[in-house]
Amino acid sequence: MAKLNILTIPDKRLKTKAVAVEQFDSELVTLVADMLDTMYAAPGIGLAATQVDVHKRLVVLDISEDKDQPLCLINAKITKKTGHQLHEEGCLSVPNIYAKVKRAELIEVEAQNEKGEVFQLRAEGLLAICIQHELDHLEGIVFLDHLSPLKRKMALKKLEKEKQENEND
Ligand code: NI
Repeated sequence: MAKLNILTIPDKRLKTKAVAVEQFDSELVTLVADMLDTMYAAPGIGLAATQVDVHKRLVVLDISEDKDQPLCLINAKITKKTGHQLHEEGCLSVPNIYAKVKRAELIEVEAQNEKGEVFQLRAEGLLAICIQHELDHLEGIVFLDHLSPLKRKMALKKLEKEKQENEND
């Protein structure tokens, strides 16, 4: 297993739209394992393939306290969305920036596992947020894109400032 490099904004590759996974082979199983490794090491609770420069419809998540409940969603589609929730989000591709984003409260998802088997999932609360956030990445969307232009500008300015400070260290 290997740790993969995570792209950070404003890297243009984060805007790539992912394509469906068609081959359920050993290469895919390795990619899922590497993505989980990378996510746990970061540490993060979700990672989309887009973030590691693989433009396939694949995300991994684990919102459990003990980090022992990995979830892999391949070719996932949200089939139902209900209600709203507002929660502060962060992203491994947008380091040190947090902002409140409005998401559906409850979602129903249809996806495939790494063997290609189709399954249904109902998610609410943090898991629902995390799935919506990760599936956005596959469309080339980061959570900052959901903010008002002013808030997004402020967040980007903060990010730029931190980058400069790091370079001066
Ligand atoms: Ni993210």
